[in-house]
Amino acid sequence: MPDDILKDIESEIIDSTEAAEAFRVKYLGRKSGKITGMFKQIPEVPPQERKALGQRINQAKQRAEARLAAFEASRAPRDDAPHAARMDRTLPGRLPAPPGSLHPLTHTLHDIAQVFEGFGFSIATGPEIETEWHNFTALNFPADHPARDMQDTFFLEPDRVLLRTHTSPVQIRALVAEPPPVRIIVPGRVYRNEAVSYKSYCLFHQVEGLYVDEGVSFADLKQALRLFVQAMFGDDARMRFRPSFFPFTEPSAEVDIWWADETLPQKGRWLEILGCGMVDPNVFASVDLDPERWTGYAFGMGVERIAMLRYGIRDIRAFYENDIRFLEQF
Ligand code: DAH
Repeated sequence: MPDDILKDIESEIIDSTEAAEAFRVKYLGRKSGKITGMFKQIPEVPPQERKALGQRINQAKQRAEARLAAFEASRAPRDDAPHAARMDRTLPGRLPAPPGSLHPLTHTLHDIAQVFEGFGFSIATGPEIETEWHNFTALNFPADHPARDMQDTFFLEPDRVLLRTHTSPVQIRALVAEPPPVRIIVPGRVYRNEAVSYKSYCLFHQVEGLYVDEGVSFADLKQALRLFVQAMFGDDARMRFRPSFFPFTEPSAEVDIWWADETLPQKGRWLEILGCGMVDPNVFASVDLDPERWTGYAFGMGVERIAMLRYGIRDIRAFYENDIRFLEQF
């Protein structure tokens, strides 16, 4: 009988999970499986035949199990199976890629630009590789001014081409390019050969401003900057104009804002955010504009400084390290 069953086992067609299950029940089912039934009959044969019969039934059982295993194996995905077949549908879904965000300096630049665009300024840009004439000479820097020194300036060619040390040369480019009235802001990157520390880096960003027309006064400058500070730091922001000196403005000033800090004995301190002044007559002369006719104000602010104040960032290098943990806060 086990010989017949071997044939039966081999001839069964197992082509689906249902067929496999039916096969398993038919031969190996615990209650009425044929092979199971045969094992139960062993005690009924004479003792000397039992061993041989048992072996043959075992053989049949192994074959039945082998056929089931073969069917399972044929269904299991192989390494070269299409991706979908190997996909594990029980894995949790992938989260969508987290959205990126603007760099804090970009945020600050946008906000600064937005305020001045509201005042009627348009945006101008200039090259980061500048001539010494635009960067220094036309801006009324004396030939022996220390800022021209190798200490501060990255010269690309001796004494002529350099990485701009400020955005002020774009004042010159704008005045050469178009006749006044001119009302521009110039966001951009500038470079200085300085020792890197928590407060200075070899590159940083400025926003230059220039307004040239007939009859522009220092009062116009104060008003524009006061409105700017309020828009940027809030209506309650305290600011002060402090006399200063720049070769390209006369008179010149710097603007400080009060930074409240309860940990300090004075409960805060003044921090400089920009330089400004009335365009020096020598600057008009260097671009062939009549200093008797034209008047103007200019200013230049450090974007990093403003961003550090706004966000409470204490080390300027944080802006350039691209540490994702820092950047994702903005
Ligand atoms: N260029 C100056 C600097 O980098 C900043 C500055 C001061 C710009 C006064 C101006 C200005 O336009 O009027 O330190």
